[in-house]
Amino acid sequence: MKTGANFSSEKILIAPSILSADFGKINEEIASIEDYSDLIHVDVMDGHFVPNITFGPGQIGKMRSGKPFDVHLMIENPDEYLGEFAKGVKSAVGEDLYHESYLVVHQEAVPALRETIQAIKMLGMKAGVALNPTTGWETIETVLDDLDLIVCMTVNPGFGGQKFIESVMPKVVKLKELRPKLLIEIDGGVNDQTAKLCKDAGADILVAGNYVFNALDRRVAIESLR
Ligand code: DX5
Ligand code: ZN
Repeated sequence: MKTGANFSSEKILIAPSILSADFGKINEEIASIEDYSDLIHVDVMDGHFVPNITFGPGQIGKMRSGKPFDVHLMIENPDEYLGEFAKGVKSAVGEDLYHESYLVVHQEAVPALRETIQAIKMLGMKAGVALNPTTGWETIETVLDDLDLIVCMTVNPGFGGQKFIESVMPKVVKLKELRPKLLIEIDGGVNDQTAKLCKDAGADILVAGNYVFNALDRRVAIESLR
């Protein structure tokens, strides 16, 4: 039975995570999936907020993409670096797609969420907040009207290829009930099986790293999530 189905958008968007791509040829990797993707999910890890390190703003600035970026900042003190990451995104996707791109901070990493969201919007980007699996929807209740995107993590952030945590789904249903038009993205452990659970809960955007980049045919993998 569909739980949040009344609220889900008709078309599900797919955002492959380049965390599972070959970093040594990252632009070829992006080119291999961008035609079939709606957004490119870029996982930024600082070795503090999560026990892994990935891309800095300089590396992002050297990427090239014909689709908007969805930059998932798994870093401490993101407020200090928003401008640098925005600059990197603009260089990677160009002026037009820059304004369609998201900067996403973690609720757990920022002391004053409303101010951070406003700062992202002042940069001309769309603003998102990510919630770890155990972080409740109540923590963002007062900023729901300011947001462009909520990311519900279905793994503990830090690594690709982890198992989907299904007990996060009631949170997705609740958030969709509260704000039917606000985009909800699900990140972690998404494959053709778990994608169904996400869609039933009302998700609008699915992130998939391992499932897409380790597939024999990446296009088929992406389409199987829709
Ligand atoms: C986890 C990242 C996810 C990850 C998803 O910390 O935020 O975006 O890349 O990878 P899969 O789809 O392999 O779980
Ligand atoms: Zn992510």
